[in-house]
Amino acid sequence: MTDNELVNVSGIKPSGAKIKVRVPGTSANCGPGFDCIGLACSVYNDLELMLLREPKLIVETVGEGADSIPTDEKNIVWRSIKTLLDRTKFGAEFKGAVIKMENHIPMSRGLGSSAAAIVAGLKAANAIVGSPFNRQELLQLATDIEGHPDNVAPALLGGFTVSVVNYGKVQTLSFLPKITMNFVLAVPDFPLPTWQARQVLPKEVPMKDAIFNISRASMLVAALIKGKERFFKNVFDDALHQPYRKGLIPGLREAIEAARKAGAIGAALSGAGPSVIAFTIEKQHIANDVASAMTQAFSSKGVNARSMILKLDTRGAHII
Ligand code: HSE
Repeated sequence: MTDNELVNVSGIKPSGAKIKVRVPGTSANCGPGFDCIGLACSVYNDLELMLLREPKLIVETVGEGADSIPTDEKNIVWRSIKTLLDRTKFGAEFKGAVIKMENHIPMSRGLGSSAAAIVAGLKAANAIVGSPFNRQELLQLATDIEGHPDNVAPALLGGFTVSVVNYGKVQTLSFLPKITMNFVLAVPDFPLPTWQARQVLPKEVPMKDAIFNISRASMLVAALIKGKERFFKNVFDDALHQPYRKGLIPGLREAIEAARKAGAIGAALSGAGPSVIAFTIEKQHIANDVASAMTQAFSSKGVNARSMILKLDTRGAHII
C-alpha cells in the first residue's frame, strides 16, 4: 500500500496512511427543538487525515476559518482524534497527525462548524485504526465532546434528527421528510460563540413556554414525516431561547418576519446563531426572494449578511 492509498478498514495501517472524510454543516433547534432537533445541509467540510507516530501536529486549513483555526493541540479536530485514539491501544502508538481541512461551513455562525470538526476527526481516526467504534459509539463520543447532540447527530447521520439524552446516554433517530424543502440561510458577518449565546439563557422557564415549544417541536416532526404543508404554520416558533438571544443579534426578529413575508413557511435562529434559517417549499424563486428579504432586513439593522440556499444532506459524514 502506498501513502496515497485509502486505508482498508480490515487492515490497520501505521503512519503514512491517509483518509479523507466529508462532513455536512448542520442547523440545530429548527426553532422549538432546543438541544434536540437538527438537520444536515448541503455545505461541507473535508478533512484529510494522516496519523503520525511522532508527537508532531501539522494543521493546514483552506477556506472558512483558515486564519483563525488553532494549529496546536487546542485544535478541535485533533482533540477529537486524540479522544478516540486514547480509548484504544492506538493512543500510545499515534502521537501526532497531519490534518488538512477544506472548509465551506461558515465558522461560529450557527451552522455546526465545531460539530463538523468533531465528527470529521472521529470518523477519520476511527477508519484509520480499523473502525473499532460503531456509529452509535461515535455519536456518543461526539455528543460528549460537544456537550449536546443536536449538531453532531445530523453531521454524523444526515437528514433531520431527533435526539434524547438520558443520564448522559444519547439516542438519535434520523429521518427524511416527506416534503422537499430549501433551507435559506442569512449568515451575518460577525461570529457568535455558542458559549456566549448559552450564557444569556435562563436556568428555568415558565410552564407555558415549555408547552409552547413541546407542542411545536412535536408538530414539526409529525408534519415533516407526513409531508403536510399546511401544518407547518407556526411550528418554527420558539419561546425557550430566541427571545433571550435576540439582544445578541440585531435584525433577528426582522429577518424572521421578512422571510415569512417573502414566502417562507417559517424561519428561526440557526443553532445558537447568529445565522437565520428560513424554510421554503419547492420553487427556487421563492428561496431567492426569501434570501434577499432576509439580507435586506439584517442590513436595515446595520448587519451585513450573506445568503446561502441549501438542500437537505441525506448522507451525513462519509469517507470520500
Ligand atoms: N442547541 C444549541 C444551542 C445549538 O442553541 O445553544 C448550538 O450549538
